[in-house]
Amino acid sequence: MEVSANTPAIVTGGASGLGLATARALAAKGAKVAIFDLKEDEGAKMAEELGGTFCKVNVTSDEEVDAAFAKAREAHGQERILVNCAGIGNAIKTASRDKQTGEIRHFPLSAFEFVIQVNLIGTFRCIAKSAAGMMTLDPLSEDGDRGAIINTASVAAEDGQMGQAAYSASKGGVVGMTLPIARDLMREGIRVNTILPGIFDTPLMNAAPPQVKEALAASVPFPKRLGNPEEYAKLAMCMIETGYFNGEDVRLDGAIRMAPR
Ligand SMILES: NC(=O)c1ccc[n+]([C@@H]2O[C@H](COP(=O)([O-])OP(=O)(O)OC[C@H]3O[C@@H](n4cnc5c(N)ncnc54)[C@H](O)[C@@H]3O)[C@@H](O)[C@H]2O)c1
Repeated sequence: MEVSANTPAIVTGGASGLGLATARALAAKGAKVAIFDLKEDEGAKMAEELGGTFCKVNVTSDEEVDAAFAKAREAHGQERILVNCAGIGNAIKTASRDKQTGEIRHFPLSAFEFVIQVNLIGTFRCIAKSAAGMMTLDPLSEDGDRGAIINTASVAAEDGQMGQAAYSASKGGVVGMTLPIARDLMREGIRVNTILPGIFDTPLMNAAPPQVKEALAASVPFPKRLGNPEEYAKLAMCMIETGYFNGEDVRLDGAIRMAPR
């Protein structure tokens, strides 16, 4: 599907990092981008810069997601592109022993559930509602192409580190549902693909001290650096614009395989 002038697109988590880079790449091709994000100030500023629309939304809320889709569609028309980048993580061991006191504790279930709610169920919520909207559109090509959906998992879906049980489960869920969703939507001309990023240089990583970032960069086989958000955006655009790309989960990671910790 060609991304052309005025193609309506939605990017969740579009106020920052990988989502923002993708929103920029879409806008550079003339797409009308709606940014769905929690971050009101950054999101509104970026949407204005890109000539798009900001929708303040928490992807865990059915009502907020419905309201955001309604606002975006009112402003730009029914979207043909959805890119899911909203996501969070935490680092807690399944069960652990305090080195000083010997106290034993386990992963709080509420913290586990929160990550699943945002990364897995939030992604599915946006996919389902967007696909239902795309099904009302006329096909664009002889193939019957109506729209394209991109999801963001993580290499942690396949090689999760210590403390990543919730994060890996959420991203493994995103990887696992890609093919069945692509199959659910095949008769409707809606394609679904997922990117598994390695370690990318985004605001999420800025929290890490420089020496940690350097060590992470050195751990990448080639090229020995963190990924640029623009490289993620390039792959997302390729998946959107290549009609034969469907039902795939693709690592984008400089050949890294994460160590246990
Ligand atoms: N940066 C990396 O190295 C890396 C690696 C693998 C996977 N990922 C995944 O890529 C995605 C984007 O990450 P990023 O590095 O760009 O992070 P980021 O923090 O820069 O951007 C994530 C955006 O999602 C938004 N968001 C978070 N929770 C939300 C919610 N409940 N509702 C709506 N918006 C919400 C945040 O406000 C933020 O703007 C995430 O799903 C992350 O898990 C990132």
